[in-house]
Amino acid sequence: MARIPDDLIDSIRSQADIVDIVSDYVTLRRSGRNYLGLCPFHDEKTASFSVNPERQIFHCFGCGKGGNVFTFLMEHENVSFVEAVRHIARRLNITIPDTYREREASSEAESLAQVTRFAARFFHERLMNSGQDSIVRRYTAKRGLSDETIKSFGLGYAPDSWNDLLNAARKQDIDAAGLVKAGLAKTGEQRTYDAFRKRLIFPIQAPGGRVVGFGGRALSDEDQPKYLNSPESPIYRKSQVLYGLYQARDALRQQGRVLVVEGYMDLLGLHQHGVRGVVALCGTALTRDQARLVARYGQQAFLVYDSDQAGVRATWRAIEPLVEAGLWTRIVRLPADYDPDSYVAEHGTDGFLERVEQADSIADFMGFHANLQESGDREEVFRTLADLIRKTTNLVHRERYREEAETRFPALQGLLASELRSPGATRRDRRSAEAEKEPVRGEAPAERGLVQLMLNDRTIAELVDSQLEPEDFSSPLYRRIVEHCFAKLGDDKAYDLSGLVDAIDDDEARRTITELINTIDSGVHLEQRARDHIIRIKQKRLKESMTRLMEQIKQMEQGGRSSELKDAMGLYMELKHQEKALLKSPRGD
Ligand code: UTP
Ligand code: MN
Repeated sequence: MARIPDDLIDSIRSQADIVDIVSDYVTLRRSGRNYLGLCPFHDEKTASFSVNPERQIFHCFGCGKGGNVFTFLMEHENVSFVEAVRHIARRLNITIPDTYREREASSEAESLAQVTRFAARFFHERLMNSGQDSIVRRYTAKRGLSDETIKSFGLGYAPDSWNDLLNAARKQDIDAAGLVKAGLAKTGEQRTYDAFRKRLIFPIQAPGGRVVGFGGRALSDEDQPKYLNSPESPIYRKSQVLYGLYQARDALRQQGRVLVVEGYMDLLGLHQHGVRGVVALCGTALTRDQARLVARYGQQAFLVYDSDQAGVRATWRAIEPLVEAGLWTRIVRLPADYDPDSYVAEHGTDGFLERVEQADSIADFMGFHANLQESGDREEVFRTLADLIRKTTNLVHRERYREEAETRFPALQGLLASELRSPGATRRDRRSAEAEKEPVRGEAPAERGLVQLMLNDRTIAELVDSQLEPEDFSSPLYRRIVEHCFAKLGDDKAYDLSGLVDAIDDDEARRTITELINTIDSGVHLEQRARDHIIRIKQKRLKESMTRLMEQIKQMEQGGRSSELKDAMGLYMELKHQEKALLKSPRGD
C-alpha cells in the first residue's frame, strides 16, 4: 500500500479541528474545557461523549471509544485511515499528491467501482422502466416489494438477453474486460456474454455505500440456480461485506441491536414490514470480520436463520464470531418451514417482533437442537458452551452466559465456575490473562495520576523523563503509555498527542489516553502534583528493592556467605538513605 507522507498527515491533523468535524455528526455544547454531546457510537440519553479541543481528542465515558479526528471518522464512517485523512484534506483544501503506486492501486479499484456503479444504475433503470405486466414487475409484486423498497435498495432487473449490459457498457466506454473482472460478464469459447440474465438484481453495497457486487434471483423455478452471486474482486471481499448494512446503519446505532438473516429476500421482507436494523449474508457463512463490523454499530445480535436443517447448522457456526466480537447474542427460533420473510408475511410485524422478544439464549438453542440423551452429544454441547464462555471478553456477558448455561444445564453448575476460574483456563486464554495484569481503575493511583499530568503538559513529561524510567511504572499499561510519551518527546516536533493516538496500535493504551485527556481537571499546581506522584513511585520501587535485598541477606546469613553479606548490607543502607532523602526532597509548596 502506498503511504501518504507522515509530514503531510501531521500537517493535516494539526490543521483539522475535531470540534468542527465531530459537529457534522453530533450536537456539542461547551462544558468547562471540553465539549459534551450524545455519543454517536452507542445509544444514550445523557451526554457522556466528550471532546477536548486543546488536545484534539475525544472520549466516550459510556462506551469507552476514544481517539483523534482520524479515528473518529474511521469509526463513524467506517472508512480506512487513508480515507479519513483524505476526507479531512478535502475539507481543508489540502492536495495530497498521488504517488505512482497509489495511483495505480486506486485506479484499479476506482475503475472497477465505476463499472459496478454503472451496472447498478443500468439494472435499476431496466426495472423502473419495465411495465407492470412485465415478468420482473409481476415477480416484485408477487414478493410484495414496494417502490420505496426497490429504490432504497436500488433493486434492478437483468434483462433476458446475452449482451444488453455489454452493449450498454460499450456505449459508455466501459470495456468487456472490466465487466468480466467485476463478475458481470463471462468469457466463453466463442464470445463474452452477460453473466446475469433474466434475474431480479440486488446490488451489494460496502458499509460506505459503494456498490461492490451483485446478487441475482431467478424469476421462475425452472431457472437455476435460484440465486447467482458475483465473485470476489479487488473491491468485493465477501468476508467483509454484509448486505443491507449501509441502509441499516442509523437504525443499528439507535437500537443497538442487529438482526442477522440468511437471505436478501428475508431482509427485504422485513424492511417491507418496517423492521429496521437488519443485515443479510450473501451466500456465505458469517465471518469474524463481519461480526466485528456489526459490533461497531450495535451491542446485541439476534440470529434469525431459516428453521430448516441448513439454517440450524449455519446458526450454530455463526454464534462464535458474534460472541467473540463482543455482541450479546440471541437466537430467534422460527417454526418449521419458515424463514423470516415468510414468517413476517404471515404473522405481520408484531408477530415477528414477538418472536424476537422471545429469542433463545445460546444455551437454550444448543439444548434444543442437541440430542442430550447421547452422552457424546451432551459432552460436545458442554464443551462448546464452556469454550464460548471462556472466549467472551466482555465480563458482564461472560457472567450472564454462564448463568444461562447453568440454568439450562444444572449439571454444569460448579463445573463451569471451576473451569473458568482455574488458572489453567486463564492461561489458555491469553487475552483474559493479560487483562488481569492490567490495573483496574483505582489501582496504581500515583502512576495513573502522573500519566494524566504527562499527557496534559509537555514540561511535566520532560520532568518525568528526567526522573523516572518506564520500568519504574509497575503497571504494564501505564508503562506502555509512558514509553510512547517519551518517544514523542524525542521527536523535536510539537508534543502532539492527537498524533500519538495514530501511532499507537494498542486499543487499551489508546482508550486510556483519550479517557485521561478528557478527565483532566482544572490544572492547578501541576508540577507540585507531579513531583508528589514521582516521589511515591520512587518510594514504592525502593521499598520493593529493599524487600528483595532483605530476602537475599537472610539467605546469605543462613549460608554464612559473609563477604557477600557485607556488600549487601552496604547496599541496603544506601537504599535506606535514598528513601530518607526522597521523603525530605522539596515538594514545591
Ligand atoms: P434460500 O434458499 O433460503 O432462499 O437462500 P430465500 O432467502 O428463502 O429466498 P426466496 O425467498 O426463495 O427467494 C438464502 C440465501 O442463500 C444464498 C442467497 O444469498 C440467498 O439469499 N443462496 C441460495 C445462494 O447463494 N445460491 C442459491 O442457489 C440459493
Ligand atoms: Mn424465502
